[in-house]
Amino acid sequence: MLFRDYPFRLGVAAGEPAADGFVIWTRLAPDPLDRHGGMPMAKVDVDWEVAADEGFKQIIQKGTAAARPEIGHSVHVELAGLQPARPYFYRFRIGREVSPIGRAKTLPAIGVRTDRMRFAVAGCQAWEDGLYTAFADIADQEIDFLYHYGDYIYEGRRKLMSKPGHDGRSIPVVRDHLGDELYSLDDYRLRYAQYRMDPNLQAAHRAAAWFATFDDHEVSNDWVSDHSAQGTPPELFLLRRQAAFQAYYEYMPLRRASIPMGASIQAYRRARFGDLADIHLLDTRQFRTSRPCGENFTAECDAVRDPKAQVLGSAQEAWLTSELRQKAGRWNVLAQQVMMMNLARDRDGVAGPKPTRNFDSWAGYLAPRDRLLRNLDGLGNVVVLTGDEHQNFAGELAPGDGAGKPVAVEFVSTSISSGGSGSDARYDQAQVMAANPTLKFKQDQRGYLLCDVAPDLWTSRFRTVDKVHEPGGVVSTRATFAIEHGNPKLVQA
Ligand SMILES: [Fe+2]
Repeated sequence: MLFRDYPFRLGVAAGEPAADGFVIWTRLAPDPLDRHGGMPMAKVDVDWEVAADEGFKQIIQKGTAAARPEIGHSVHVELAGLQPARPYFYRFRIGREVSPIGRAKTLPAIGVRTDRMRFAVAGCQAWEDGLYTAFADIADQEIDFLYHYGDYIYEGRRKLMSKPGHDGRSIPVVRDHLGDELYSLDDYRLRYAQYRMDPNLQAAHRAAAWFATFDDHEVSNDWVSDHSAQGTPPELFLLRRQAAFQAYYEYMPLRRASIPMGASIQAYRRARFGDLADIHLLDTRQFRTSRPCGENFTAECDAVRDPKAQVLGSAQEAWLTSELRQKAGRWNVLAQQVMMMNLARDRDGVAGPKPTRNFDSWAGYLAPRDRLLRNLDGLGNVVVLTGDEHQNFAGELAPGDGAGKPVAVEFVSTSISSGGSGSDARYDQAQVMAANPTLKFKQDQRGYLLCDVAPDLWTSRFRTVDKVHEPGGVVSTRATFAIEHGNPKLVQA
């Protein structure tokens, strides 16, 4: 036997689906929590197979890939030459050891008439805060792909006790992080290994291809550009970012184009789903200017109106503008990370006398926010998908003060586990809804978003879990919202 133990204990994954293929991923690790995953520090060849059927009777493609120690014995095979709009099955093999079987669908060919698209939106999966019950539900859905908005891991050290959550309620530590706060490549690798051993997370990876993006916790809390939020000198923070991005690439089913170059990673990109949708995956961290007004959720300061502020950075913003001008897809999806609605509210603790804002979101960057929203005006087909907040929100977006005609809608998906079980209505429900007329829905349980898209109608369902602090959580649809093509307003079904 080549290995002390089963080498595919981290499962398999697929990502970056296109009309002719996708990436298939695995990482050899007979002992995932060991420093080198229980692997010899040498190149190891792994065979892969892609089949039309789950029984692998009809093998369409096969090959051999090198799992190299430079990238933690991860394997990213970029498949091409497959048929559009159909499911495939894949697995890896070393000698007699065979991996679990994954399933992924190719996208419909670009421009071909396409009547439906179904996908899940998920992220924010703090290990300590709860179980991945929502991922088990995602694995049971028949979806074309999953969009992950980041916070796949959290970088903090093991918590020694429960922390106070919203409204002073405590969030129990459901399971422990291994180790201290993450700084080195080995630290980040170990954290991913721990998370990726979760059976529900593995099931969600096996069920569909993912479009993975990162937010802050893949590196450190609230970082932007070369600014850590902890005052680290930029040149030192970039060393940490480099380690974090390497581990991120190693664990995500990304294309070669996203292999990090130093402390940078190519993360913004576009996918086309037939003629039905253009999905613009945005990077709201690497090119953003530093957060205004000091602390998050404080009173507003003049810096939020800084005309030189950037969220996407000038190159990505120009790219997105030209993408939107092409008007290729029936719908335009902005798959991004931080909230675009500019809501007056508090986050933690009891609401103060003056509503504050989340400056680690587009609300802290009003000039680029306004530029983007004015660009969307007249399209009538833009849906913004967001995470980060650990709450569900649905609202309408308008330029300027937000009182005008909406130009897009935004769905903020909650978290898989971050923030703990939560409750249907947070203490601030009534105040926040009353203070924000463009906000149509707010809810504070864990879960994910399930989107069904047709040429004339977009439907999003908020799937919520009644508890994540113990097994047995029940997932149900808490609310459903629809948008008619050409009329960016939310209608609750
Ligand atoms: Fe998060």
